[in-house]
Amino acid sequence: MDTGIGLSLRVARRFEVAHDIVAFDLEAADYLPLPPFEAGAHLEIDCNGQRRHYSLCSDPADSSRYTIAVQHERNGRGGSRYLCETLRVNDTLDALGPRNHFAMTPATRPPLLIAGGIGITPVMSMAWSLHHAGIGFEMHDFASSAARQAFVDEIGRAPWAGKVTRHLGRCTDFTLLTGGFEPGRHLYVCGPFAMIDAVLGAARAMGWPEDHLHCERFAAPSSADRSDADSDQANQPNDLPFEVELASSGRRVPVAVGQSVCAALAGIGVHVPMSCEQGVCGSCTTRVLAGTPDHRDWILSADEQASGTVFTPCCSRAKTPLLVLDL
Ligand code: FES
Repeated sequence: MDTGIGLSLRVARRFEVAHDIVAFDLEAADYLPLPPFEAGAHLEIDCNGQRRHYSLCSDPADSSRYTIAVQHERNGRGGSRYLCETLRVNDTLDALGPRNHFAMTPATRPPLLIAGGIGITPVMSMAWSLHHAGIGFEMHDFASSAARQAFVDEIGRAPWAGKVTRHLGRCTDFTLLTGGFEPGRHLYVCGPFAMIDAVLGAARAMGWPEDHLHCERFAAPSSADRSDADSDQANQPNDLPFEVELASSGRRVPVAVGQSVCAALAGIGVHVPMSCEQGVCGSCTTRVLAGTPDHRDWILSADEQASGTVFTPCCSRAKTPLLVLDL
C-alpha cells in the first residue's frame, strides 16, 4: 500500500478561516519545492504521536506550500487540539503524503462539487485544479452559520469565485441541487456524515449512477447520524471472537469480542499503520488471503468490500472463524 513520501514541514503561517477552524500554510523544512499533489489529496500528519489525515486545500499548481485547515475538536481524540492549541509559526511537523483517496475522474461535463463545513478543504483544491484545466464546474458550500463558513475571503479572491454558491443553514433535500443525471457529469461531496448521505441519496434518486458519485468522509457517523439501518457499523451484540493468522509466520492471534484486530495484533508486537481508527481513512487497509471479512468501514468501495481481498482491521471483523492476513 502506498504510504506516501516522508516529509518534514515547517509552519509558514497559521490563520483563522472560520470560528474554530484554523488553517496552516506548510512549507518544506528544507525550503525545497514540495512533492506535487492532485486535487482531493491529503497528508497524514504526526500530531504528537497520533497520525491524522488532513486534506490539502491549496492550489495543486503551487509547489511552494501545502495548506490544510483543522477544525478545533475540543472533545476529540487530541489530534486537532494538538495542532490548533500548540502549533505555531516555524514549528515543524512530520507527515506522510500526499496520498489521494478522493481523486477526480477526467471530466467530460462540468462536475458538481458540494461541501459542508470543514469538507470545503478537498473541494477547494478541486476547484483550483478544474480552473487551471479550463473545465467549468458548479460548487456549493454549506455552513451552519456565517461564523462557521470557512475561507470566505480566500474563495472570494479566487478566480473561480463566480462558480461558488455559499449556503447557510441545514439542507436536507438536495434533489433540486443535484438535478437529473447528465452522462459524463461527476458529483464530489465532502462534509458531515449525514449531509453526504443526503446528497448521495438525492443523486441516486435523480438517476446518478454509482460510478459518477464520489465522497470523502472525515469521520464515522456519530450516534446522532446512525439510523437503525446502519447501526450494524458499530459493535454488534452478536459479534463473535475469531482468529487472525499472519501469513508470514503462520502465527495465530485470537481477537476477542469488543477488541479490534489491530489491538489484538499490537498485543503481540505487530503494529498495523493506523490513523482514524474508525474505518474512514484507509491507513490500515490489509490484504486478506483467506477467510471472509465482516466489513465495517466507510472507505472501501463496494467492489473492494465484495472482493473480500482487503479489509480495515481497525474496525472490521470476520464472518469466518479465521482470517489469514498478508502480514
Ligand atoms: S485506521 Fe483509518 S481505516 Fe483503519
